[in-house]
Amino acid sequence: MKAISYSRYGSADVLEYGERPDPKVGPDSVLVKVRAAAVNPVDWKAREGYLQAGLEAVFPVVPGWDVSGVVVQPGAAVDEFEVGDEVIGYVREDFLSRGTFAEYVAAPVRTLARKPLSVGFEEAAGLPLCGLTAQQVLHKVLKVQEGETVLVHAAAGGVGSLAVQLARHAGCRVIGTAGPHNHEYVRRLGGEPVEYGDGLADRLRAMAPDPATLAPDGRLASIADAEVFSYGGRYAFVRPDAEDLAHLAGLAEQGIVSVHVDRTFPLEQAADAYRLNEQGRTRGKVVVTVDWDS
Ligand SMILES: NC(=O)c1ccc[n+]([C@@H]2O[C@H](COP(=O)([O-])OP(=O)(O)OC[C@H]3O[C@@H](n4cnc5c(N)ncnc54)[C@H](OP(=O)(O)O)[C@@H]3O)[C@@H](O)[C@H]2O)c1
Repeated sequence: MKAISYSRYGSADVLEYGERPDPKVGPDSVLVKVRAAAVNPVDWKAREGYLQAGLEAVFPVVPGWDVSGVVVQPGAAVDEFEVGDEVIGYVREDFLSRGTFAEYVAAPVRTLARKPLSVGFEEAAGLPLCGLTAQQVLHKVLKVQEGETVLVHAAAGGVGSLAVQLARHAGCRVIGTAGPHNHEYVRRLGGEPVEYGDGLADRLRAMAPDPATLAPDGRLASIADAEVFSYGGRYAFVRPDAEDLAHLAGLAEQGIVSVHVDRTFPLEQAADAYRLNEQGRTRGKVVVTVDWDS
């Protein structure tokens, strides 16, 4: 199969497009014909070698954990999916090797859910990792309640845009940090935008003087700073969860959450997709597509 891979840590320049062996399909996995795979910052942080203390790389590594596609071969013990089923997945194993930036990926069923039929493959590919992160942080870590005020940092990004929508759906007031060019976008998601940078705390107090967000009984979680416990917060790392993913797919099917696709690239240009995301300005998701007609 054709795939993107890298054989040493480094910048996007180490990414190569070429032939890789078709993945083997274990008894509790399915072979997915990839239609789209979304870029996540964790992919390029791992490729740079920043995560090597806790995440083993078996080179050559095919990057990517997010996918949408079609089941072409269920494993011997799989009765959840059949050939032809459209699926989405956060296909993370505990080491880096067989990612989603490829024509095929072998995905354990615990990482998959049915794709919402009304949602296209590109948008659907952006849902799993970011949607699961937002959902697990809001509902399992912070346990947000209706009527609470939630502050979402980087509200225009992949995780942030879904966190805004999910927190609104939970009945919360949502304030989201974003650059001025993204304020209208954050409003469309249901959030109240605020500019980040110097003076943020004062701007927040002016917007939300009553809630306990910044007070000792407020709750804080970070997905980007593992040291957050030192100032009273909890660090969260998204887990594959078929039930959570099916729930998210249902919300997407109903139009309660959606994924904004910032830009798409064909698989062979995945390095450019990563370079774009590495600039830190993605609105929604950058997505790579596999063109099966060519
Ligand atoms: N622990 C986990 O399980 C987990 C899961 C997913 C992601 N993450 C991490 O969480 C972070 C966000 O992920 P993501 O996928 O949402 O990234 P992303 O989509 O690449 O985020 C891009 C967004 O970040 C915003 N941004 C950049 N600098 C900012 C700042 N100083 N303050 C506020 N917003 C800023 C940009 O908005 P403007 O253009 O408006 O500035 C842009 O819209 C990354 O570090 C990622 O590795 C962790």
